[in-house]
Amino acid sequence: MISVCNLEKRYGDFCAVTDVSFEVQKGEIVGLLGQNGAGKTTIMKMITGYLQPTKGKVTVGGFDGVADRQKAQQLIGYLPENAPLYPEMLVQEYLWMMAELRGIAPEKIHGAVSRAVLACGLSEKLVQPIGTLSKGYRQRVGLAQAILHHPSVLILDEPTNGLDPTGIHQLRDVLKKYAHEQGGAVMVSSHILSEMQLLCDRVGIINNGKLIKVCTMEELEKMNSSSRYILKVTDAQKTKELLSGNDKVSEIEVKDNIINAGIDEENIASIVRLLVTGGVDISEVKKNESSLEEVFLQVTGGGINIE
Ligand SMILES: Nc1ncnc2c1ncn2[C@@H]1O[C@H](COP(=O)(O)OP(=O)(O)O)[C@@H](O)[C@H]1O
Ligand SMILES: [Mg+2]
Repeated sequence: MISVCNLEKRYGDFCAVTDVSFEVQKGEIVGLLGQNGAGKTTIMKMITGYLQPTKGKVTVGGFDGVADRQKAQQLIGYLPENAPLYPEMLVQEYLWMMAELRGIAPEKIHGAVSRAVLACGLSEKLVQPIGTLSKGYRQRVGLAQAILHHPSVLILDEPTNGLDPTGIHQLRDVLKKYAHEQGGAVMVSSHILSEMQLLCDRVGIINNGKLIKVCTMEELEKMNSSSRYILKVTDAQKTKELLSGNDKVSEIEVKDNIINAGIDEENIASIVRLLVTGGVDISEVKKNESSLEEVFLQVTGGGINIE
């Protein structure tokens, strides 16, 4: 549905996006994961036709992003980073205005707005001024605006920014329905690995304008689960004594009553048993998530600079 081929964007001498190629099929949610300045927004703006590539080609639903720009754009719903919303407008007024601006025929506006409102769970907020909504609901208004014309491609730039975990789960439900049930092609960007894991079917990792790897969720999961665990214990000293010399445990770090140790997943249960029988109470056991930097290092073998 979306095809990006050898895409490049230069600003003067600076190459913001270099030789990026990937595809997004119908029915899948693909993420662009990268730190600030990696080039995510630039890639999305080239796909949506708001920026012209210096080199390379974008097609959306078979339409060339430059030659058939308008036809391609009709297929796309776009939620930019920090989408402008009018705080004094009611949700309903705003969505009607956006439907008119999008050129939806007057007799179809009611249906289009109702469908978007339902999909985004906004029924109870229709007559509330946008400025009084929580960040999560404002994001839903942005999303509703993006799907008014029933686009087959949805492009959302950092949609989880500022959302709490509930907001992120709700967004995930809306996107999954859109992609998996209705066959839309969805692209999202983020700099947060765990959010991408929640939202996406596949993820492209972007660094310094280059697509360094496209991963399945399984691969990403492996990268994100370093074999380290964090244990919250009652007696850190005793824990250290019990674990030291144990060949299933490596590199133990202790800070207050938090232990961070290298333990393989298959050994964590026996280590927890060992501590509990040794008289240490444990109030929390969690896997230590890798940071984006660590994942980049794994992907590239350490050959890149992270700003
Ligand atoms: N209009 C512009 N002129 C010059 N440089 C730009 C412009 N827009 C973006 N950039 C640069 O391109 C790089 C990629 O930016 P962007 O795509 O916004 O990254 P991201 O969305 O991943 O944070 C950054 O280094 C940014 O400063
Ligand atoms: Mg951006």
